Amino acid sequence: MKFEFHNPTRVVFGAGVLGRMGVEAARLGGHALVVIGGGSVRVGGVLDKALGSLEAAGVAHTLFEGVEPNPRLTTVIRGGAAAVDCKADVVIALGGGSVMDASKVIASLPFYQGDPWDMMMHKGPSQRVPETALPIITVPTLAATGSEMNAGAVITNSELTEKSYVSAPCLYPATAIVDPLLTVSVPPDQTAYGVVDLITHVTESYFNGVGATPIQDRMAEAVVLTALEYGPKAVSNGKDVKAREQVQWASIVALNGWVQAGSGALGFPVHQIEHVLSAHTDMAHGAGLAILSPAWMRFAATRRPEKFEQFARRVFDADEAMDGIGRLEEFFRSLGCPTRLTEVEVGRDSFQRFAEDSVRVGGDGARVHGRPPLGIEDIIEILRLAA
Ligand code: NZQ
Ligand code: ZN
Repeated sequence: MKFEFHNPTRVVFGAGVLGRMGVEAARLGGHALVVIGGGSVRVGGVLDKALGSLEAAGVAHTLFEGVEPNPRLTTVIRGGAAAVDCKADVVIALGGGSVMDASKVIASLPFYQGDPWDMMMHKGPSQRVPETALPIITVPTLAATGSEMNAGAVITNSELTEKSYVSAPCLYPATAIVDPLLTVSVPPDQTAYGVVDLITHVTESYFNGVGATPIQDRMAEAVVLTALEYGPKAVSNGKDVKAREQVQWASIVALNGWVQAGSGALGFPVHQIEHVLSAHTDMAHGAGLAILSPAWMRFAATRRPEKFEQFARRVFDADEAMDGIGRLEEFFRSLGCPTRLTEVEVGRDSFQRFAEDSVRVGGDGARVHGRPPLGIEDIIEILRLAA
């Protein structure tokens, strides 16, 4: 095992910590660009509390609102201009993964020369990742992506119908203020999608890693088992703060790098295919994963069954690889998620295009990385399994 690991994000976690926003921002500068989505943070006074906390700490603020789910490049570019105009010292992301991802790119734009779409992974060898960004504070209102404590951002270019990804050290948030009380208003469907997303973050490295990584395996299994226990509680009773806390911490642990460090996992293939699905349909990321993840597992398990048998045994107490996958799919369905492409009105006529886009945008032009690597025909087979 060989790896380097560094995650500089300071996490302030617990019910009520939203009130710390002002003090934390004041450590980073005198003017904050506060980025929000479509208005969910206005409900229940969350935005008022956040702005009040900034005012109490003497931090001036400019509000940038309207980041959409699956955030668009055009919105992010407008946000970057807003950061320059108000001479922001710090960018505060108050929202779900979409707001946090948009905020990271917004924070980098005052320093980025050229077309921001060039910072994304789809550019392959000519990708130019950002090297500098304003300090970022993430304040998640939805437990799903782990964006609050990682260096990644996923942005959609709707002119090109592409969704791509950037990860760079300067995009690590300085501080994540994680207040599970902010998530009690998340509706059941989005809560469920978040649970699927966090599970998929650890299964991607579990099944695509180099193997012989017992600590990472056990950590991934712990994340999944925690999601299996607390996810349904958070979905059925959104006000169950204990369940919200566990789901939120699980979502952070799932993608802050701890589980992936040393796993040697390449590619995140289910994610690459899902990003194409959501680029074309604008569906929620977690809903796409609930459909594609079991299909990819059925495909990969026939090529490399051992790890899937281990997963079945340790997570579901089942003997057969396919039983474990079936149980996971049943779990997604029990949360109310779609598990078939027909449920989201994606027909077989899209499969060729989706497969081509997957290798072009999310792979090396010929294949999507993973174990096994996936060519166009493999992806079409996975989409058929998901039909
Ligand atoms: O826009 P608002 O009004 O805030 O409403 C949002 C949105 O409609 C709503 N919501 C958020 N918090 C709420 C709430 N509604 C009620 N109460 C609250 N407390 O939920 C809807 C979905 O929000 P969104 O931010 O889009 O969801 P999520 O957190 O799942 O983020 C999805 C985005 O993150 C990317 C996805 O591809 C997608 O673009 N990802 C980012 C990753 C990363 N940075 O590491 C990794 C992931 O794999 C993922 O790809
Ligand atoms: Zn994800």
